[in-house]
Amino acid sequence: MTVRSTSLAAALLVAAAAKVVAQDATVVDVPASLATRPLLPDVYGYSIEPVWVDDYISTSLAANLLSIIADVTGKPPPIRVGGNTADQTFLHDTLSTGNDSVAIPTPLTAKIFNITPAWYESWADYFPAGTDLIYTLNLNDNASLWANAVAEAEAAHAALGDKLVLFELGNEIDHFINKGWRDQFWSVDTYMQQFRNLTGQIKNSEWYTKTQSPPKFQAGVFADPPWVPDQQDEDDDFSIENLTLAERPEDREVIGSYATHLYPQSTCDTERWLRMRLDLLSNHTVLWLNVSQYAPQVAAADAAGAPLVMGETNSVSCSGKSGISDTFGAALWGVDYVLMGAALGIQKTYFHLGAQSQYSAFTPKPYELKNETLEPGIRANWYGHYFVAKVAAPVNSDGEGSSGNLTIAALPAANTSELSGYAVYTGADLHKLVFLNMGVWNGTEGLSNNATLSATDGTSFSEGERPTSTIRAATPWCSGAAVDVTRLTGPGTNAKSGVAVAGVTFDPSTGDKVGEETTETLEVAGDGTLEVEVKRAEGVLLALKAGECAGGAEVETSGAAGSVMGLWMGRLIAVIVGAVLVSL
Ligand SMILES: *[C@@H]1O[C@H](CO)[C@@H](O)[C@H](O)[C@H]1NC(C)=O
Ligand SMILES: *[C@@H]1O[C@H](CO)[C@@H](O)[C@H](O)[C@H]1NC(C)=O
Ligand SMILES: *[C@@H]1O[C@H](CO)[C@@H](O)[C@H](O)[C@H]1NC(C)=O
Ligand SMILES: *[C@@H]1O[C@H](CO)[C@@H](O)[C@H](O)[C@H]1NC(C)=O
Ligand SMILES: *[C@@H]1O[C@H](CO)[C@@H](O)[C@H](O)[C@H]1NC(C)=O
Ligand SMILES: *[C@@H]1O[C@H](CO)[C@@H](O)[C@H](O)[C@H]1NC(C)=O
Ligand SMILES: *[C@@H]1O[C@H](CO)[C@@H](O)[C@H](O)[C@H]1NC(C)=O
Ligand SMILES: *[C@@H]1O[C@H](CO)[C@@H](O)[C@H](O)[C@H]1NC(C)=O
Ligand SMILES: *[C@@H]1O[C@H](CO)[C@@H](O)[C@H](O)[C@H]1NC(C)=O
Ligand SMILES: *[C@@H]1O[C@H](CO)[C@@H](O)[C@H](O)[C@H]1NC(C)=O
Ligand SMILES: *[C@@H]1O[C@H](CO)[C@@H](O)[C@H](O)[C@H]1NC(C)=O
Repeated sequence: MTVRSTSLAAALLVAAAAKVVAQDATVVDVPASLATRPLLPDVYGYSIEPVWVDDYISTSLAANLLSIIADVTGKPPPIRVGGNTADQTFLHDTLSTGNDSVAIPTPLTAKIFNITPAWYESWADYFPAGTDLIYTLNLNDNASLWANAVAEAEAAHAALGDKLVLFELGNEIDHFINKGWRDQFWSVDTYMQQFRNLTGQIKNSEWYTKTQSPPKFQAGVFADPPWVPDQQDEDDDFSIENLTLAERPEDREVIGSYATHLYPQSTCDTERWLRMRLDLLSNHTVLWLNVSQYAPQVAAADAAGAPLVMGETNSVSCSGKSGISDTFGAALWGVDYVLMGAALGIQKTYFHLGAQSQYSAFTPKPYELKNETLEPGIRANWYGHYFVAKVAAPVNSDGEGSSGNLTIAALPAANTSELSGYAVYTGADLHKLVFLNMGVWNGTEGLSNNATLSATDGTSFSEGERPTSTIRAATPWCSGAAVDVTRLTGPGTNAKSGVAVAGVTFDPSTGDKVGEETTETLEVAGDGTLEVEVKRAEGVLLALKAGECAGGAEVETSGAAGSVMGLWMGRLIAVIVGAVLVSL
């Protein structure tokens, strides 16, 4: 009874505190018992449209950027080569032009992508050592019992070897009726029959039986958002839940993961064109509405014994929208998206790349679009990836001999449309906190980037002074502990340049890091609170310095529970008294 009334009193105080001090500080509790999910070092990956691989590997930009991520996380970003043109890819011994590949009529408008085995060799060694590769086989072409896909599998493995960790069978197969690639009977049942036949043929191939740990299969690869019926291309029963219900135990032996795709906004049709808005992208509540629809799919995948990944995604489908996809708002969105996904159990998120797509984080070559010449370069959203790398970087295990593996949870007290927050742990210890101020600030600087369309440079600006807010996190960290601060900064939500992580930028032509990281260190207060200032439209990573006391269950703290609770209550009362005094 006493406990009950104490916690009720505490709850009321928390509510009152949050309300009263809202103008000057947001109090964010970090509860001791949040349910966590793995945060993998390679949580942020890329998906490259097959017809654009040649352009990406034609310069060192992508390889340099990906290596920089690997230097931070210890593991390069995973690369999926797949997309619409995977189901239009045909393998030939040679091509009449003598080339390794040819997109017909052009990469931008390809209906057919002809390749030779040498095409796989051309990118086999491009990506940084240790990169996991996924390749999508052509499921569409079922002639001669998928003879083309069976040959693709063998040629891809011959060139890529054990870098090739997974195959996909077809891209966005829940659009196959609409594309005229399957008849109206196309369903989970017919897919599973074809999945069994094609994986069976590959498994029976000589190369497969002779390989030590041959690639498995990433099943599903669905496009339609489960909870948005008006955005579903066709009537079918495809979902990860239905798929896992139709599986047999022998199917699961070859399934390494399941994939879904998500594009929150779209230029593909007029209806959705009219709904596109940058401030809908930079809105944590909207993101939650988009990503939480995959929670049942995660549960189904987990129950079937393989994780769900967001196998292809970006801000705006049908190649992106300059002014939304290439802004600092998209960088903040990308960070929130990948971390939210991880906290929900979506283990990896693959951002789609096309050499002429407006959502691509980086583009290797110049190209013409809407009467403008876009230069090769780096868009603002790349900086979100570099920031996520810092979040997902393993913690040095020089402290308590932990494995360095991280887990993540979303913070219930940092969950409004303008504020998002995550806690990152090693074992039971809280090691990092992430806060994202998703509030829109349209600044007047960094409006242009010659790798983006100038026609979409910002023209609507926020009035007054850019607000800064204080976040007061209640942590289990020990008094006096030092905390490193890494900021993801930009001149505004609408900015296309001037974006940085810890003050560092990247050379748009080489991908090289420019500048020294600025170090900012905070100290944990006596009661475990940590205060940090965050601008509107800014991200901040707070990481306990190596060797500092993380507090938590494993740390000896004589009579801790009582005194920490006492301090905590005392702090709240002080905050309320202070606020009441201020408001009087
Ligand atoms: C074929 O290769 C030649 C020589 O490398 C190149 O000039 C040409 O653009 C290539 N054609 C296609 C369609 O890729
Ligand atoms: C190939 O797909 C077509 C179109 O859906 C279908 O009519 C045909 O039966 C399929 N062939 C096989 C072998 O599944
Ligand atoms: C694939 O289907 C064909 C035609 O029904 C059959 O002959 C073949 O044995 C099947 N292969 C596998 C591996 O299931
Ligand atoms: C799953 O299958 C059931 C029964 O066939 C169907 O009613 C339901 O719509 C399917 N779910 C999805 C998301 O398509
Ligand atoms: C994302 O959420 C917004 C807001 O609820 C909604 O308009 C949009 O259709 C969603 N997109 C998808 C693909 O779920
Ligand atoms: C590009 O220029 C042509 C010729 O001046 C013009 O007709 C067309 O409307 C322009 N397109 C765009 C997207 O501005
Ligand atoms: C850490 O993660 C790796 C890779 O996911 C895994 O193989 C290993 O078992 C994990 N270690 C622990 C102690 O959980
Ligand atoms: C965040 O808020 C949404 C409602 O907008 C809720 O469904 C979700 O569970 C909340 N997340 C956390 C971590 O509390
Ligand atoms: C964010 O989106 C939610 C859900 O659509 C909406 O209720 C809220 O007003 C939006 N927030 C802002 C600041 O626009
Ligand atoms: C594009 O901008 C970059 C700097 O971001 C600069 O190095 C390059 O010279 C510019 N290109 C042109 C054609 O102006
Ligand atoms: C910021 O600019 C975007 C377009 O770049 C616009 O959609 C949005 O309404 C603006 N928001 C504010 C608060 O000025």
